[in-house]
Amino acid sequence: MADRAKLFAPATMGAIELPNRVLMAPLTRNRAQSDGTPSDLAQTYYGQRAGAGLIISEATQVDAMGKGYLDTPGIHSDAHVAAWHLITDAVHAKGGRIFLQLWHVGRISHVSLLPDGRSPLAPSAIQADTQTFTANGFENCSPPEAMSLDQIHETIEQFRNGAELARKAGFDGVEIHSANGYLLDQFIQDKTNQRDDEYGGPVENRIRIVSEIVDAVATQWSRDRIGIRVSPLGHANDIGDSDVEGTFGALYEMLSDKRLAYLHVMEQFPGHDNEGEAAALVRRLRGRYDGFVISNGGYTADTAVDAIASGHADAVAFGRDFIATPDLPERFRVDADLNEQDQDTFYGGGAEGYTDYPFMAEDKTLAS
Ligand code: FNR
Repeated sequence: MADRAKLFAPATMGAIELPNRVLMAPLTRNRAQSDGTPSDLAQTYYGQRAGAGLIISEATQVDAMGKGYLDTPGIHSDAHVAAWHLITDAVHAKGGRIFLQLWHVGRISHVSLLPDGRSPLAPSAIQADTQTFTANGFENCSPPEAMSLDQIHETIEQFRNGAELARKAGFDGVEIHSANGYLLDQFIQDKTNQRDDEYGGPVENRIRIVSEIVDAVATQWSRDRIGIRVSPLGHANDIGDSDVEGTFGALYEMLSDKRLAYLHVMEQFPGHDNEGEAAALVRRLRGRYDGFVISNGGYTADTAVDAIASGHADAVAFGRDFIATPDLPERFRVDADLNEQDQDTFYGGGAEGYTDYPFMAEDKTLAS
């Protein structure tokens, strides 16, 4: 067994003191009310996982136009703030820390999910060749409309507003979702951005909206409480770029200069290989960022130890393992088995597969 103590060495991440390096990745669970108000059960769910070095919340839309799936939570109304506050209180009562992931899906949406049946917004009017989940099950994403300059400025303001409301809801910081083929990734990568104004064309233009959103969020939070998530290897939501290393190298350097709490890199998508050239690319890009890095994607306790020991990562986020094993850090510490994951309850439903996964019993064997 690799030296697990590496996972439990405290770390300073911007303004946040992490008691361990085992973080909870953002995980959409589709259990919010239809108006985006988180459910009461979410208090229990997040509270159960407060042993994480940091919890990063499920992706949360900053505006009704930023919604792309059924029953995802929002952060754009007083009701949202009140419900999220109960969740942050539950996590803090258990000694945890929680950031809110600020999200806009862009073109990964469907008219039935958007106000007045409007078309999704995107950098360019290019329909995503993928599906989203609506009240009727999986449906093809709707054709989007290309955003006007005014709509881009409104969206930046919505991120600023979401950041302000996250502060009012008692979060410890925010993570800007710039990964997985959603709106910001759609601007960054040239497959989805064919604009010819100051938000399209050369990479400096394609990453401009990210820079402006970081600065807008930084009017609400000190930069040492802002993180950002990126996914250079693509694979999700029909995203792609003709020069991944050039594009993401420029993005990493721009973000380095912002002096944020962290860069969160989604390195591997479930079902995709992370060996060979893909892994080498992730490692080369790592050299373009100077600051605290959270790595994620397919890690185990032992590979996380290796990533931290080699300096590749400062902390590692776990997704699916945290869904099924609420006391994941403690299990890693004593090398106990993890609970089995039930993928059928990942997205949507109630308490089953959400708040009913067992904790380890005192004697270190699984509670039944
Ligand atoms: C995810 N992922 C994800 N990523 C993100 O940035 N915001 C989100 O809301 C979600 N939601 C989500 C839901 C579910 C059910 C899964 C399985 C995944 C991706 C997730 O954070 C993580 O990157 C992947 O799960 C890979 O990490 P693991 O599971 O290999 O540790």
